[in-house]
Amino acid sequence: MNTGMSSGQGGIFISFEGIDGAGKSTHIEGLAQALRAQGRRVTLTREPGGTPLAEKLRTMVLNDPMDAMTEALLVFAARRDHLQQLIEPALARGEVVLCDRFTDATFAYQGGGRGFDLVVLAQLERWVQTVTPAGAPLLREPDLTLWFDLDPTIAAQRLVSARVPDKFEAQPVEFFRRVAAGYAQRQTAAPQRFARIEANQSRDAVWQDVLATVQSRGWLS
Ligand code: TYD
Repeated sequence: MNTGMSSGQGGIFISFEGIDGAGKSTHIEGLAQALRAQGRRVTLTREPGGTPLAEKLRTMVLNDPMDAMTEALLVFAARRDHLQQLIEPALARGEVVLCDRFTDATFAYQGGGRGFDLVVLAQLERWVQTVTPAGAPLLREPDLTLWFDLDPTIAAQRLVSARVPDKFEAQPVEFFRRVAAGYAQRQTAAPQRFARIEANQSRDAVWQDVLATVQSRGWLS
């Protein structure tokens, strides 16, 4: 899908993706610090969530049993509120928005993992993410997606020692194989936007890859 334009007014939108246990979250704060050290204003946020309403929806999605369509509608409802209330205003102020998961997670989890119709997801994506920052409609997508790719078996081992699993973290490894395949499919569809980060490395090596990727876009020196 074509994004039409980049974020405009100097704003930059970066999402972080990967299966549960891939280790993305530790690098979001690091990247925020690196960008702030170079004078950028950074908004850190997450999905589902990022606004009071979307955080309520997150609690439901992560805890309550529901069918895949309900899940998809709730994550897109949360996304709409998040875009309107937080992401678009931050980009309009020229900030860098670092978002822990975005729509690729819906394609990977609800689409790949739960088997929900990808055509319907693409339609919801278009409805929810069409915004009009300068009066003209554009499809808001991340300018860059850092995809932390890790073998689901290794991710499952990492999760064993983690806190009490939520609804998704409690899924079997086969679920995460489908989620991982969903991410791979999204990368194939948008290779310029996606940067695959090999997550089966030391934390420092992963961080070096994150830095190099953002530097290669000219957003960090
Ligand atoms: P996660 O980002 O892993 O947060 P934490 O580190 O606090 O566990 O948790 C969010 C979960 O929500 C994750 O399992 C993926 C799932 N999810 C979806 O199923 N669909 C979506 O569209 C999004 C954004 C997340």
